[in-house]
Amino acid sequence: MRKIIIAGNWKMHKTQAESLEFLQIFKSKLENANEAMEIVLCSAFTSLGVMSKSLHGSRIKLGAQNIHWEDKGAYTGEISGDMLTEIGVSYTIVGHSERRQYFGETDETVNLRLKAAQSHGIRPILCVGETKAQRDASQTEQIVINQLQKALVDVDLNNLVIAYEPIWAIGTGDTCQATEANRVIGLIRSQLDNKNVSIQYGGSVKANNIDEIMAQPEIDGALVGGASLDAATFARIVNYQ
Ligand code: 13P
Repeated sequence: MRKIIIAGNWKMHKTQAESLEFLQIFKSKLENANEAMEIVLCSAFTSLGVMSKSLHGSRIKLGAQNIHWEDKGAYTGEISGDMLTEIGVSYTIVGHSERRQYFGETDETVNLRLKAAQSHGIRPILCVGETKAQRDASQTEQIVINQLQKALVDVDLNNLVIAYEPIWAIGTGDTCQATEANRVIGLIRSQLDNKNVSIQYGGSVKANNIDEIMAQPEIDGALVGGASLDAATFARIVNYQ
């Protein structure tokens, strides 16, 4: 069965105090959210500890935004699976386009990070998607399939989420048409041996387009950036109609 998963990616936003302030409001607005759905918040590393304590006993799952492939070592600025599981992290984003674009992530390091997450029992959310130039050159399918093939070598499809995030739709307000996102996500699913992998859409998901996005048959949830920063707005998103 494909699980519906809506995740907030807070990127480099919110101090510990701001994270707790968010949770106080957000937790009180979930009574009507679909019981079977998974709700995930991927905070900055510095907020994970206080978030974990505050989420104890709640249905909200805690996510990180990256994970290193080694358990320890001389990797300045990185974080390991042991460090994340000790805090109670159960998801992590891997291969976000901002990591690929600004921090030199490659399909090969993405693959290593995916396997490390799974070996620690952390469910990775693998991000794939094309740039505007690649879309304009009709390369969307080829780019996405290539990213998947390289990232998924020896990765367990039973413990994985994929997010289709067209780069031109991230933070731009220029949402990919819901039907087009549905088409590409269907294509991604056709490449997988396990058809039950949850595949999210990400890129300018807002309170006013979530209902249309979630109505698409291939789309199993959303990875939400900017609109996940405000508790009332993100609550409306997880309470999609
Ligand atoms: P926005 O929702 O701000 O476009 O960001 C999407 C994203 O990058 C989620 O990972």
